[in-house]
This record gives sequence, structure tokens and C-alpha cells, in this order.
Amino acid sequence: MKQHALAAHQFGTSTAAYLTSAVHAQGQDLQRLGAMVQADQTCRALDLGCGAGHASFALAAAGAQVTALDLSPAMLDIVAQEAQARGLHGLQTCQGAADKLPFADASFDFLVTRFSAHHWPDVPAALREMRRVIEPGGTLVIIDVVALESPLCDTLLQTVEILRDASHVRDYRVSEWRAMLQQAGFAAPSTDDWTLTMEFASWVGRMRTPALRVQAIHDVWARAPQEAREAMRVQADGSFDLSVAWLQTRSSVDSKRAN
Ligand SMILES: C[S@@+](CC[C@H](N)C(=O)[O-])C[C@H]1O[C@@H](n2cnc3c(N)ncnc32)[C@H](O)[C@@H]1O
Repeated sequence: MKQHALAAHQFGTSTAAYLTSAVHAQGQDLQRLGAMVQADQTCRALDLGCGAGHASFALAAAGAQVTALDLSPAMLDIVAQEAQARGLHGLQTCQGAADKLPFADASFDFLVTRFSAHHWPDVPAALREMRRVIEPGGTLVIIDVVALESPLCDTLLQTVEILRDASHVRDYRVSEWRAMLQQAGFAAPSTDDWTLTMEFASWVGRMRTPALRVQAIHDVWARAPQEAREAMRVQADGSFDLSVAWLQTRSSVDSKRAN
């Protein structure tokens, strides 16, 4: 199965879990997104890898016209149903991939992707597409799990992530995001980061991780060097802390014209 199909399959069978997951449905980052577009009914926003729609709901509730894009038609069905239930009429869904966006140039003023980019097979291609569909001077917010800069912690994180979810590609380091954004022609981002504690049972439960792989994750943690377990705050039951980053930038007017 190819990567896009694998991700669509993994998430298409977990829609309800993502709608109700506290990790996804809650967070100050959602309020912050809403505040950024507050009362701007002319704001055309795109949410890439919308999942069960939490970022889209925050933007639409604040008044933006939102397009919620995802690979998984099942996720989009749940987003459309939930938007209707919440009375969010300025929200439409669109099936597609982040690295091949089905939109004309400069279609959006505001782009966000939240907890999705670590599944994308080609982030540089997706960033080029984002720069194509964003208005010159438009805002891009990337919210995603990031690897610590320590190679040891980075390797361990990718290992447990791919054991938990076969559609995992990479939790990039902030330094890698900075380089990829610059390469795609975005201005240097401002960044914030915070940690989220992943409660082990619900973390693997959301993805229906097979028992053999759950056992393998416990074994990886058990044999991991002490300094890595301390840095990632691994607990006896396998719960651990993930680092999340908010990277905010603008598409540069000049570099857009130069191309
Ligand atoms: C963890 S969920 C996203 C959560 C959601 N954005 C939120 O704020 O709660 C990840 C989503 O990314 C989608 N996805 C994965 N790869 C994608 C790609 N290349 N293009 C678009 N969507 C993708 C998956 O189908 C899934 O619905």
C-alpha cells in the first residue's frame, strides 16, 4: 500500500476516536488560532490534514471561511456532520493530499496544519504547494509534534511512533522545519513549544496498535538509555511526554513575485 493510502486507511478507521480525543479536541492552540482570525469574515482559511476538524472548527467559529482538507473521506464525513451540528456554515470539506493541492494559486489568506505533517511523505513538496495557494503576505501556522534536537531522543521517538502507527513518517526537529520553510520561500518562523503527556493506553488505543507492536514499544522504552527516558519523561506504564511546536510565518511578498 502506498503512503497516502496507508494514512487514509489508518485514520479512516479511527474517526470517532479523533473527534473525542482530548489531545486533539482541546488545547490553547485552538483558542489562539481562533483569535488570529477573529471576526474576519473575509478570511479564507485552509486546514491541511484536518482529521476530525478541531482546527477547522476553531477557525470557522471565529468567522473565517474554512476549507478542511484531508486524505480520508471518512474523516471529512465526520467533519461535515459535526460542523452542521455546531451550526458552522462557513466550513466546507475537500478530499486531497497536502503535496498536491486542488486549488488555484493565491486562494487562501491563512493556512494551518495541526498534528498532520508528520504523516506526509514529502513535506518540501507540500510547503511548495502551500506557498502557491497562499496569498502573498498570508499567514501559515504549523502545529506538530517535533523531535528533540538530541539524535538519541529523535531516533527513539521515531521508533515508538512508527511502531504505534505504520503511517508515521517523521516528527521533524524545529531546526529542520526552519530549513524547509526557508527553502520553500517562507520568512523565518516565530516558534513556541510545549509538551503533551501521552497516556499510553489511549495513545495506542486511538490507532488500534497491534499487541505485538505494543509489546515492542514497551521493550524499546525498557532498553532505552536513562538520559533519553528522563528527557522524554517515560513512565512505568509507557506514557511519555511529546514536544509540540507552533511555527508561524508569512509567505514573503517579494520571493513570491520572484518566481
Ligand atoms: C492526527 S489527524 C489530524 C488532527 C487534526 N488536524 C486536529 O487538529 O485534531 C492526522 C490527519 O492527517 C491526515 N493526513 C495524513 N497525511 C496526509 C496528507 N499527505 N495530506 C492530507 N492529509 C493527510 C490523515 O488522514 C488524518 O486525518
